[in-house]
This record gives sequence, structure tokens and C-alpha cells, in this order.
Amino acid sequence: MRRKMVCGCLCLLSAVVLAGCQDGAEQEEKKSIRLGVSVYRWEDAFLTTLRTELEEKAKEYEQETGIKVVMDIVDAKESQSVQNSQVERFISLGCDALCINMVDRSAASDIIVQAMDADVPVVFFNREPVEEDMERWDRLYYVGADAKQSAVIQGTILADAYDGDPSSLDLNGDGVVKYVLLEGESSHQDSLIRTEWSIQTLKDRGVPIEKLTGGIANWDRSQASALMEQWLEEYPDEIELVISNNDDMALGALDAMERCGSARPIKLVGIDATPAAVEAVREGRLMGTVSQDLETYADAIFQIARCEAEGEPVEEHVQLEGGKYYRSAQAPVTAASLSD
Ligand code: BGC
Repeated sequence: MRRKMVCGCLCLLSAVVLAGCQDGAEQEEKKSIRLGVSVYRWEDAFLTTLRTELEEKAKEYEQETGIKVVMDIVDAKESQSVQNSQVERFISLGCDALCINMVDRSAASDIIVQAMDADVPVVFFNREPVEEDMERWDRLYYVGADAKQSAVIQGTILADAYDGDPSSLDLNGDGVVKYVLLEGESSHQDSLIRTEWSIQTLKDRGVPIEKLTGGIANWDRSQASALMEQWLEEYPDEIELVISNNDDMALGALDAMERCGSARPIKLVGIDATPAAVEAVREGRLMGTVSQDLETYADAIFQIARCEAEGEPVEEHVQLEGGKYYRSAQAPVTAASLSD
């Protein structure tokens, strides 16, 4: 009888202790969230700026709420299989949400299956998975900027300059603006759309343009610099304008012009408003760029991920299209807009 009573008491005691532990664990969970972030290429200038903003957002949130944010940010080194393994590791580490900048945007399937199996939500950003993949689960999101809008703003910066003073672009006054075009990766949704709409905007606005040549520099400063060096040799007295799908390539073209001692005041325009590009606009070395408002862009990524991690309804904090897409606001950046 005594043995039974002792045993019963012990059971009761361990039940109380266990319940206490569970409560503690739940409270502990609320005090900390873990996010796994993977970017396609560490050196990418745009993503470097975005990464910094994202870290900033996490820090601000920690300070405001006291909730600890553990954010692992890793480099997928331009390999989809490396990124797939990173996702596997994030899941095994117990991440509450993933923020993924796909290496190959058409190959999101493996990541989506892993995430669904483990019930871990994913915020894709900047490199948009195909719609079919995005539709597979209601805990998949995408944050990015509308590529057509970036390009229309880029074209408008140029058309406004031409309207104000045709000689600002038509350097030799022959009635035609001769341009070269620097394009991003061919597989990236932004490249084709930006190219198409930047040129279309110039045509719609009646700017007389003629393409001399163009090439793919994969968003990369040094690849763009090498292409521009080649073009400066081929068309020493003809290039009047460089239209670039992003800032880093525009800066690469500028590097080549400065290296080759190009005497003509060739105009350049980019997209992204990276800190280096904004500085170049301020110095008059770049005619303009397009801001994708990286602070709200990063905020959207972070808020979606942390709401999902904490079980809060995302749409109370971030306005989404179709329950899963967030497109950041964009604006022109020119010497005039900077001095406003
Ligand atoms: C940006 C580029 C960047 C690329 C990477 C684009 O939206 O404009 O600067 O290299 O995304 O995915």
C-alpha cells in the first residue's frame, strides 16, 4: 500500500514537472525565432544592400519587442544543389521560416517539397519562382519589384532628359541617340522585361534611338566592364548612351570608360539605387537610377517571415497581392531628385 502511494506521488510529481517544462518551452519559443536566409550569390551588389537592410530589420525588431531573432544568412554560391542542401540544413536546425533568393528560379520545386513536408513557410525574394510553383502551398510568398515599372521609370528618366535638352543624349547632334545595352542573366525575370520596357518607353516618348550593340553581363560589374571596353574599341566615336538592366553593370561600363580614358561624355543609366550608384548620380557620373525602396522591401521579407514564425496573420502587417505577392514601391533617382 505504502509503495503504491509513493509511486502515485512520484507520477504526479513528474507530471507537474513535465507540464512546467512544456509551459517553459512554449514561452521560450515565443522569446526567440529562427530564420534561414539563402542568397544566390554573396557578391551581388543589390543583394548585399538588401542583406544589410534585412539584418537591420531583425535588429530593430529584437530591440522593439525583446524577441530574439536568430538569422542565419548563407551564400548559395550560384549552385542550386548547394541551396537545396542549405534548406535541408535550415529545416534540421529547426528554422521557423525560410527566406530564399533562388539560384535557378525555375527550380523551386525541391525547396517547396522540403518546406511543405516540414511545415516551414518560405518567403522567396528577388528571383521569382514560376506561378505554378507558387500556387502549390498557401505558406509560400514572394517579395520583389515589378520589372516593367522599373524599366518604365528608367526610360522616363532618359526621355525627360531628352525632352529637356536633346543634346544631353544626342551628343553629336545628328538626330539619333545611339546606345548600347547591358543585360542581366538571361534566365532572370527582370532582364527581358526591363530591356523591353525601357526601350518601349523611349519609343513611346518619341526619342529617336538606334541600338549599336548589346550583351549579357549577368548583373556583374567586371563582366560589364569587359564588354564596354570591347564596345569602346568597336565604336570609338559612336556610343552616346549606355542603358543597363542594373546599377552594378552601369558602374562596370563607367569603369571601362574611365580606364580607356574615353573623352566623350557618354550617358549611363541603371536600376537599383545601390549606395555606389546613388553616389555616382550625386557626382554626375551616372545620369540616373531607379530606387526599389530596399528598406520596405527588406521589411516586407522580414515581417512575412516573422509573422509566419510567430503564428500571426501576415496580412495584418503586410499588404499582399493574391495573398502571397508583395511588390515594393519604386522611384526615379536623378541629380534633381537627390537635391530636392
Ligand atoms: C537586380 C540586380 C541583381 C539581380 C539578382 C535584380 O533585380 O536589379 O542588381 O543582380 O536582381 O537577382
